[in-house]
Amino acid sequence: MLTVSQVSKSFAGRVLFEDVSLQVNRGDRIGLVGPNGAGKSTLFSLILDEASPDSGKVSLEKNATLGYLPQETAIAGAESVLELACGKSHKELEDEHDWEIEPKAKRILSGLAFRESDFDRPAKALSGGWIMRAHLARLLVMEPDLLLLDEPTNHLDLDSLVWFQNYLQNYPGAILIISHDREFLNALVGSIVEIAQSKLLRYRGNWDSYVEQKAAREEQQLSAYKNQQKEIASLQQFADRFRAKASKASQAQSKLKQIDRMEKIAAPTAQARTIKFRFPQPLRSGLRAITLKEVRHAYGDLVVYESLNFEAERGQRTVLVGPNGAGKSTLLKLLAGILPVQSGERQVGHNVRVGYFSQHRVEMLNVRHTVLESVLDVAEPVSEQTARTVLGSFLFRGDDVFKTVGVLSGGEKSRLALVKLLLYPPNLLLMDEPTTHLDVGSIDALIGALRQYEGTLIFISHDVHFIRAIASSVLHISVGRLTPYAGDYQYYLDKTEAGSERAALTAGNGLTNAQPEINRLEAPRRGPGLREQKEQKRAEAEARKAEAKAKREREKRVQELEMHIATLEGQQKELAIELEDPAVYEAGGRAVAINRELSAVSAELERRTVEWEKATAELAPG
Ligand SMILES: Nc1ncnc2c1ncn2[C@@H]1O[C@H](COP(=O)(O)OP(=O)(O)OP(=O)(O)O)[C@@H](O)[C@H]1O
Ligand SMILES: [Mg+2]
Repeated sequence: MLTVSQVSKSFAGRVLFEDVSLQVNRGDRIGLVGPNGAGKSTLFSLILDEASPDSGKVSLEKNATLGYLPQETAIAGAESVLELACGKSHKELEDEHDWEIEPKAKRILSGLAFRESDFDRPAKALSGGWIMRAHLARLLVMEPDLLLLDEPTNHLDLDSLVWFQNYLQNYPGAILIISHDREFLNALVGSIVEIAQSKLLRYRGNWDSYVEQKAAREEQQLSAYKNQQKEIASLQQFADRFRAKASKASQAQSKLKQIDRMEKIAAPTAQARTIKFRFPQPLRSGLRAITLKEVRHAYGDLVVYESLNFEAERGQRTVLVGPNGAGKSTLLKLLAGILPVQSGERQVGHNVRVGYFSQHRVEMLNVRHTVLESVLDVAEPVSEQTARTVLGSFLFRGDDVFKTVGVLSGGEKSRLALVKLLLYPPNLLLMDEPTTHLDVGSIDALIGALRQYEGTLIFISHDVHFIRAIASSVLHISVGRLTPYAGDYQYYLDKTEAGSERAALTAGNGLTNAQPEINRLEAPRRGPGLREQKEQKRAEAEARKAEAKAKREREKRVQELEMHIATLEGQQKELAIELEDPAVYEAGGRAVAINRELSAVSAELERRTVEWEKATAELAPG
């Protein structure tokens, strides 16, 4: 349906793509991954014909329709949310008697957490994130043959994300999706295309199987590289030794030619080093960082908090969890002082400087500044050396620091905003989804920085990996009620026995399972009915666990097979290439042996593929 062939593209001397090709067929679900700034969004603009390749061609099958969700901004005008989602004005809808489209749009809008009362509001009155959601709704209503989605989950809360993930699973068209969300990719895609070293590498399977294959591939590449280097060295040695001797000169020449003829294997790139660096630390605050007393907060008629009491102690690192709409972001904004306290009291502790980080931070960057100017543009800047070191630890290397903010990719902008924050850290840090747009490497850099951070941190995130690495306590918020868990994320999971980690982040009633210690002591006084109930619950949980385990094992088997198949395919290709070398057909050459090996590999490949098909069929639901 979509063919990218031999495309190259550079920006200001930096090569993003070199001779890359990609084929997308009907029904494909492909995850496009790679570090921030690798060129993922650029690849989309090439496909959309918004940018043109330096060479090569992008072609779309005739009559195929295309839908695109951009990474950052989407525009909205005077049309209502519903009209935007339908892609038609109210009048057009009535004229055309298109009875299906409107209910469908409503269903999708609801799935994406719009309230019915929002449907008739003008789209431009929404916040940026909600405008993106409305556009996403329009795409799902339109149902194009090929969906191009650039980090769509950035704009979603967890509930909508889960809905969206399920919806996409049954989507009739092909999907090419950019995402850094490992769990989302695992659930959705059938292959991963990675941008690495200006090439596109395609892997069969989901994110986890990509990671495994990639590791195997790199290992293979490394040993192939080492072997080749050894061979080159010995040929070179021979040539050097005999070049001067007339009788051997021609042999020496032929060795050199042999080196020339070799298809050189590139050295695997070393993993990006994580720089050990001590981040600047804020001034110490008083023991009590911030207190909310009997705070009430309502948005119009909607009362979010009736009498909220909250207290944060210096040095605590707390994640806020709980269902969508429960008031997590509201609490953070109340603490930040962005939302005024309507009644009750907000007391900021002694020597406390409050900092609030959300995606809006990115909008505060000056697009005309360079990266370096941008971090030094404060009253009392750190030294350029320090600035460059911190920028380096967030993967702005070398000339990257002279790029202007305007041309930065989404993730690069987020990283820059974080660097600015971490260079001049407040001692009470409030963060709302800080990992949005960040690639895996930058998330790890952020984790490194926050682990050193000595101030008080309160944050919201739906990145389980990030939460596990950072949080030392958990605060569950549900219908205006706060329940603290004085332990890390695992402790919270154990206490709430939530079915899955994602569920645990939004669980509204998870609390009913958590038995505080005190209740345990009272247990003997309870009737036998309760105990039986508990027993049954346990048995059910056990059965669920066993089932999940069996499923995991089947999944593992499929992944193993996929890896095996990928390896076999690699071998097959290598052997075929070897057969192209005339030398193997010379007397004493390996042609016969290679052929034999090739047919063995092909037979094995066929067997494994059959096995794989069977195993995937068993995995399918129903
Ligand atoms: N007009 C331009 N001039 C110079 N450089 C540019 C221009 N547009 C993009 N770039 C650079 O090209 C690189 C690729 O950008 P792109 O937006 O495609 O990255 P990405 O892979 O989508 O990253 P992210 O994960 O952060 O969204 C970036 O380093 C960016 O700074
Ligand atoms: Mg991008």
